[in-house]
Amino acid sequence: MTENPSQTQAPGPGGPPAGSENLLRILTSPWVAQAVYTVARFDIADRLADGPRTSEELAEATGLDPDALYRIMRTLSSFGVFRGLGDRRFALDTAGQLLRDGVPGTQKYSALLFGEETFRSWGEVLHSARTGRPAFDEIYGKTFYDYLSDHPAGSENFNRVMGGAAIVPPVAESFDFGPYKHVVDVGGGTGALLVSILSRHPHLSGTLFDLPEAITQAEQELDGPVRERCSLAAGSFLDRAPAGGDVYLLSRVLHNWGDGDAAAILRNVRAAMSPGGRLLIFERFLPDDDSPHMGKIFDLVMLVVLGGRERSSNEYGALLAETGFRPVREIEGPRNMGLLEAEAI
Ligand SMILES: C[S@@+](CC[C@H](N)C(=O)[O-])C[C@H]1O[C@@H](n2cnc3c(N)ncnc32)[C@H](O)[C@@H]1O
Repeated sequence: MTENPSQTQAPGPGGPPAGSENLLRILTSPWVAQAVYTVARFDIADRLADGPRTSEELAEATGLDPDALYRIMRTLSSFGVFRGLGDRRFALDTAGQLLRDGVPGTQKYSALLFGEETFRSWGEVLHSARTGRPAFDEIYGKTFYDYLSDHPAGSENFNRVMGGAAIVPPVAESFDFGPYKHVVDVGGGTGALLVSILSRHPHLSGTLFDLPEAITQAEQELDGPVRERCSLAAGSFLDRAPAGGDVYLLSRVLHNWGDGDAAAILRNVRAAMSPGGRLLIFERFLPDDDSPHMGKIFDLVMLVVLGGRERSSNEYGALLAETGFRPVREIEGPRNMGLLEAEAI
């Protein structure tokens, strides 16, 4: 999102007014995303992994209506998901490859996450606009994480999305863990980041701390030599954080929470630390001004689904200053993500 396309279109004589194509693309994009959700939900990309098939064959395999599936697939052939080969045969195109299970960079689980409960929240966006509170809670009668606690399949999918994020390895590489001994990953999900750090640094041990569902999933999935250096602890960071670390991680945690809860989490982490200990905050930092930035769409997800907010590094700095930390430095990462290092004072 580097430029505003509406400003780059000149109105043609007798043609549509400037910005109308851009606006139409914006207005129809939820439909395209839901079509992608549908093919992800029925594993269509996985079923095309070995080569092209007809929409009739795929409909028979999935129980979908043949004509409906054909119309969905031909639409998505205009968006780089499939390639229509004629006679209702389709192959995977580049974006479609990333809807397959298990391929590096797969976004299949994101398609499911964005397409299900979170999508319903957008239907009640006016509630968030009027109240500043998440539409999700209004629809489901509970917070997003409480909902996941009650829906193991949704929780498993969410943890897969988080654990599979391509941004995990750069964090593990961007900080010098040499002088430290024990890393506590607070809200660390099923441990992808912690495992990646412990694998690179054999002298380190670690503690993974998250809600019981994530820790249960981690217990099932973690193995190998790193497992012996990694203890697992279930609990809520709104109540406490495990003691004993000299480095604490909060990766993509604080943006899920409003300022009051984010400060409470930071205070609990600070209470578990000794002075001089390091806190690494990994987040998508927004610019302080109103310039275009992809993180702003995730800020709306925080508003509508979670009740959190994306922040600038200065805003994180202000939260750190009021909770017993001193910001030390900021390291830019991929995909508009960054690492903010702070010292417990
Ligand atoms: C957006 S995910 C980030 C996961 C991981 N740190 C990462 O970067 O991939 C937020 C994490 O916070 C956890 N979480 C939410 N509420 C929590 C709570 N009250 N106590 C502990 N963990 C919580 C979720 O289970 C989830 O793993």
